[in-house]
Amino acid sequence: MADMMWAGRFSKQVDEGVNAFNSSISFDGRMYEQDIRGSIAHATMLGDCGIISKKDSDLIVGELCKISNDISDGVLELDPNAEDIHMFIEAELTKRLGDVGKRLHTSRSRNDQVAVDLRLYLRDEIADIYSLVKELAVTLVNMAKEHTETVMPGYTHLQRAQPITFAHHLMAYVWMLLRDMERLQDAGRRMNYCPLGSGALAGTTYKTNRKQTSDLLGFTAPMPNSLDGVSDRDYCIELCCALSLLMTHLSRFSEEIILWCSWEFKFVELDDAFATGSSIMPQKKNPDITELIRGKTGRVNGDLMTLLTMMKGLPLAYNKDMQEDKEAIFDAVDNVKLCVKTFTPMLATMRVLKDNMRNAAARGFINATDCADYLVKKGMPFRDAYKITGTLVAHCIDEGLTLETLPISDYKTMTDLFDEDVYEAISLDTCVRERKSEGGPSPEAVKEQIALAEKALGF
Ligand code: ARG
Repeated sequence: MADMMWAGRFSKQVDEGVNAFNSSISFDGRMYEQDIRGSIAHATMLGDCGIISKKDSDLIVGELCKISNDISDGVLELDPNAEDIHMFIEAELTKRLGDVGKRLHTSRSRNDQVAVDLRLYLRDEIADIYSLVKELAVTLVNMAKEHTETVMPGYTHLQRAQPITFAHHLMAYVWMLLRDMERLQDAGRRMNYCPLGSGALAGTTYKTNRKQTSDLLGFTAPMPNSLDGVSDRDYCIELCCALSLLMTHLSRFSEEIILWCSWEFKFVELDDAFATGSSIMPQKKNPDITELIRGKTGRVNGDLMTLLTMMKGLPLAYNKDMQEDKEAIFDAVDNVKLCVKTFTPMLATMRVLKDNMRNAAARGFINATDCADYLVKKGMPFRDAYKITGTLVAHCIDEGLTLETLPISDYKTMTDLFDEDVYEAISLDTCVRERKSEGGPSPEAVKEQIALAEKALGF
């Protein structure tokens, strides 16, 4: 029994299968550095408050630093049979310092320990993901600057609708990403409160200094309620929500790139380094990266469901169900990082086939609204102009014509308001150039939003 930390109450060794079932070190081991940081802050506070002697506190802090280095140098391996990373580090400390090591856990529980570790860990991950997303947004802004004149069809229902530019399309994603960045920051801000000192659930009778540990660990303040401190995981869920939304944006963009790579669209060509071939069909060049991102979006959404469902029926305070939080949120974080890291260089190296975009925009009557607007600007009510244009489009389809090639005499059969200047009004370039309302696709309007985005990105 000597090897179990909670041996006193028990008269038997835990069943081997149960031990393996219970153990979380295979996935919480990655938080060793955060666990040690938390323990150093706790031991420092215990020493400063006179709860343990200053000498013991110093010994513990010194040894914890060595353990941290030994793990990162590969000198000390995590024991796969340990129950979790918290038990492992404490056992190692006690192995090295004897009775002094046994004092570290005074006035602390694994419940506040794990909550602080995970917050520290995710706080760092948020910073990483934030800069990856920022890099992606900057890449898109730079691409947009090159394509303010690249005309392409804008779609609704995947039907050609009205003309836009590639820059306009790219900038739509920049704004989504800027909101994703805000959501990440927000989640980080709300997460940054310190549960340490909540104890198992009901605080402690020792005269601790929670502000000190909170400050030492760079938190905004201690959490005001010890039950909440150990038992909520809303910080994981909120982060996962933000990640799901980010993935949703990447997934929609991926879906478009998949379409654009097809022979049916051929708007872009991926760099050979960012596409894959087929084992049987020699002609194939597949957009696997984007398909994987689309697939992994389902996986991250699944992680979010895992977390929400895991929490929904738990009575206060800690329950072991909550050990399941880590695999879900780590999976989400890992996969999001992989996706963004791969997506950015894939986009930066992608070839934009401007002529194909323009040719597609020239077909499909995407200037029909402009034709109706032409009549409206000459005084006709919009609904009447809409109907006349619809009739003309139907006539063009019957005759195999476009609004550009329809003779003026045919226009005039509908209304005398039509004149030769209609051709200029419905030309593709006019249609794009004149859509200069705020947020619109005209090169002028897009340059304005590029400037706004650059400001938001801190250029
Ligand atoms: N490995 C546990 C977890 O991840 C640590 C907390 C254990 N607390 C307990 N009372 N058993 O949640």
